Amino acid sequence: METITKPGPTIIVIFGATGDLTRRKLIPAIFNLYLDKWIPEKFAVIGVSRKEIADVDFRKFLHDAVDDFSRRGKPKKPDWDSFAENLSYLKGEFHENVTYERVGKKISQLEKAWKTTATRVFYTAVPPMFFEQIATKIGESGLSKDQEKSRIVIEKPFGHDLESAMHLNKLLHGMFCENQIYRIDHYLGKETVQNILAFRFANALFEPIWNRNYIDHIQMTVSEQLGIGTRGNYYETAGALRDMIQNHILQLVCLIAMEPPVSFDADEVRNRKVDVLNAIKRIKEEDAHKFAVRGQYGEGWIQGKKVKGYRQEQDVNKNSTRETFAAVKFYIDNWRWQGVPIYLRTGKRMNETLSVITIQFKHVPHQSFPSKAVGNWQPNRLVLNIQPHMGIRLRFQAKRPGLEMLLHPVDMLFNYSETYSSGTPEAYETLLLDIMEGDSTLFMRADQVEAAWKILMPIINAWETNPSVNFPNYDAGMQGPEDAEALIAKDGHNWIVMPLENE
Ligand code: BG6
Repeated sequence: METITKPGPTIIVIFGATGDLTRRKLIPAIFNLYLDKWIPEKFAVIGVSRKEIADVDFRKFLHDAVDDFSRRGKPKKPDWDSFAENLSYLKGEFHENVTYERVGKKISQLEKAWKTTATRVFYTAVPPMFFEQIATKIGESGLSKDQEKSRIVIEKPFGHDLESAMHLNKLLHGMFCENQIYRIDHYLGKETVQNILAFRFANALFEPIWNRNYIDHIQMTVSEQLGIGTRGNYYETAGALRDMIQNHILQLVCLIAMEPPVSFDADEVRNRKVDVLNAIKRIKEEDAHKFAVRGQYGEGWIQGKKVKGYRQEQDVNKNSTRETFAAVKFYIDNWRWQGVPIYLRTGKRMNETLSVITIQFKHVPHQSFPSKAVGNWQPNRLVLNIQPHMGIRLRFQAKRPGLEMLLHPVDMLFNYSETYSSGTPEAYETLLLDIMEGDSTLFMRADQVEAAWKILMPIINAWETNPSVNFPNYDAGMQGPEDAEALIAKDGHNWIVMPLENE
């Protein structure tokens, strides 16, 4: 995580160039980097896919993608025209050697014209079943032999379970060095997620109380109003635990719970994060029901519109037992966090779209105010709003104005939209620039991915051995199943809902 300079000559080869990820995320991000002048003069994107398309139609397709999905809206013609000169297309089957020969030829032509070698980024924007094939062919074809200058980007999901993740790591390590491999978790590129490091380690104020002596428990909620849309095929094999907790939410846990790094060197930060994953207390398969709750949405109402239940969605089995909601309680077995529960929940088709981390502090050791003054006294609470509202809220007690001593909780608020006027880059902008720069701090290392799978495997196995018999168990538009309330209530807590904006 270094201060960035403009990258040197770069060629990005996108496998799956006509797919959704390229259209929604990658090209809008690259175009925004271009507008912000982060893209080097010697730069090219080579799109590879199985479709037959001419360069001109490929550019038109990408132009429409930017039109639809860029945070800056429609591109201005001169900007787009000069950017589009860098885009070209190559039709090719992922399993055929000739595809990689053509990619190599195109790279050589560019390097010859530029009179220099370029950084090569091979991006796998494809379904996971193609990861192995593409990585193997890139390795075998010699395209990635320059270990300094060639990189492969692997999208999620990284494996389907521990075994498949280990298998994929082994295969990748046979072709690439670890520092050539960029495993994406796009949550780590989000501005508010990166800010957790700044908040914790650039302020002296919070670190002394960031432990079991002052913190009662931690909650994380990542809820979405969206259903699974057209992703039924994928989601039927994944579910909420694999799709959100194994990667994004466990990464949030790492950032909240890690020890201060000695430096922001990529491996130092990732070592501290993997320490957290290794310290999470293992849940035994037979105890999974005590620590984890699952749910599936039935039909219901979202923003005044009737929506289908999960089992009625496209490409979903009518009797599916796949979870669309998961809540889990973890403990971290180390000096800092011993005995502090961490509650995580995530779900589709919930009442709100919201990602929020709540740090609940302990009660004061002695209540010296008369009970009449205490009123609705509450312990301190710190809320990190990740999205869609971006900010931090600290709740503390104040004296309510008046002649009597009456305590009342009030909030101190930091709101991105009020503090900063510049636009916030999308996660993919940050991550793509880091890849071009060769900074892997915000990417998952092999051991991190495997450690995260190890934590979840007992729950996955328990749920697969005993499919749920009560699905669907929450209506679309609700806060998830009742069992999730019970999971936290049995410890005397409840899921905290805080006002989000500057109320
Ligand atoms: C993806 C999941 O990784 O993250 C999706 O596969 C989920 O199911 C998405 O909707 C959430 O990302 P964001 O950036 O919209 O919060």
